[in-house]
Amino acid sequence: MDYSDKVLDHFSNPRNTGIIKDASGEGTVGNPVCGDLMTMYIDVDDNEVIRDVKFKTFGCGAAIATSSMTTELAIGKTVSEAYKITKSDVAEELDGLPPIKMHCSNLASEALQAAIENYKEKQEK
Ligand code: FES
Repeated sequence: MDYSDKVLDHFSNPRNTGIIKDASGEGTVGNPVCGDLMTMYIDVDDNEVIRDVKFKTFGCGAAIATSSMTTELAIGKTVSEAYKITKSDVAEELDGLPPIKMHCSNLASEALQAAIENYKEKQEK
């Protein structure tokens, strides 16, 4: 199966790559299938709205494209809304992923959830 135009676009021009210094939350997850890693950083305002998201990955092209799309979906949402973003939401927004690459899309949503969990832990302190 070929990659959709959207996947190729997000792979060639990934949005929101990099890191956020003093992020409100950050999370790193590994992909048990391939061993690749992904870190997401979130910047959250006083109303629990995600102002900014950045990602850094050692993953493949599909991981880059899904992360890029995940950051776009998450920015502007509250942390609880963003926590519900699933890999299927992301794959759908990208007009599909080849089945063999679906495991790559776990990284983005899981790293975002890990960053949100880290944010919540920090709030409780
Ligand atoms: Fe590892 Fe895609 S092959 S994230």
